[in-house]
Amino acid sequence: MNGSEQASAQKPATAARMYDYYLGGFHNFRADQEAAERVLDQFPHLTSVARVNRAFLGRAVRYMVDCGIRQFLDVGSGIPTAGNVHEIAQAAAPEARVTYVDIDPVAVAESLEILEGNGRATAIRADMRHPETILAHKSVRELLDFDQPIGLLLAAVLHFVPEDDTAYGLVRQLLDALPPGSYMAVSHIASESFVPSDRYSAATAVYQQQTSTPVDSRSKPDVERFFAGIDLVEPGVVWGNEWRPAPGDPEIKDDDPLKKGVWAGVGHKR
Ligand SMILES: C[S@@+](CC[C@H](N)C(=O)[O-])C[C@H]1O[C@@H](n2cnc3c(N)ncnc32)[C@H](O)[C@@H]1O
Repeated sequence: MNGSEQASAQKPATAARMYDYYLGGFHNFRADQEAAERVLDQFPHLTSVARVNRAFLGRAVRYMVDCGIRQFLDVGSGIPTAGNVHEIAQAAAPEARVTYVDIDPVAVAESLEILEGNGRATAIRADMRHPETILAHKSVRELLDFDQPIGLLLAAVLHFVPEDDTAYGLVRQLLDALPPGSYMAVSHIASESFVPSDRYSAATAVYQQQTSTPVDSRSKPDVERFFAGIDLVEPGVVWGNEWRPAPGDPEIKDDDPLKKGVWAGVGHKR
């Protein structure tokens, strides 16, 4: 472990476990709960933004399965919770294969635990800022066939890569590795909702100081840029709850600020 990895490892909370707390999960510790509460003090509706994001992810997976996708690479997959990608994909197409990737060892351990006995899904620990380590990983290569279309999922994770060069570069590298016919789903915290303010600074400072993954929002045009070179499917990049809504989605009042929170879109590589 180098110096900066050691410093990161000593940070008490993680983004994965804080997100689990927002969603009402149980795989979080006191440090995560305290850090998450400090963020919720600033943005109480973040719990609903998390649910809207999670529902988008589910709809995007179902859409991809309907389009014939039978293998998924879920990067920044988080801690298993309601509506896991392999459950959704394999319910619709039992032969579907899923590889989960996360930087958080707890997320990976919990994923492996629930995947025990499931030969068509696995989880690996990797840092997406180094996509080549994901693409070369033995488990990824064993489970996914890079000659067949893949569904790449980047849900609520790119905002943990605030440096543009790294974020756009890693998406390009992952997309370049996928064969034609593949899809990519992206959701991202919206800077139109989380505008620079004392509240925003206080919330982002929690991630900066207490986790190893600083966070920052991006605008709609910034999120659209992730799809450069591939076709955005209808309705393009829209608010998370407006992307092909379906029965059972979290209910949102029109004037509710949480409606604006996360940008979401799906692209198709021809
Ligand atoms: C907000 S959660 C999203 C979980 C899931 N994708 C969803 O949308 O429900 C973000 C996840 O990204 C992971 N993450 C953050 N930075 C990462 C990195 N550099 N490489 C891999 N995973 C990362 C965190 O550990 C966390 O589990």
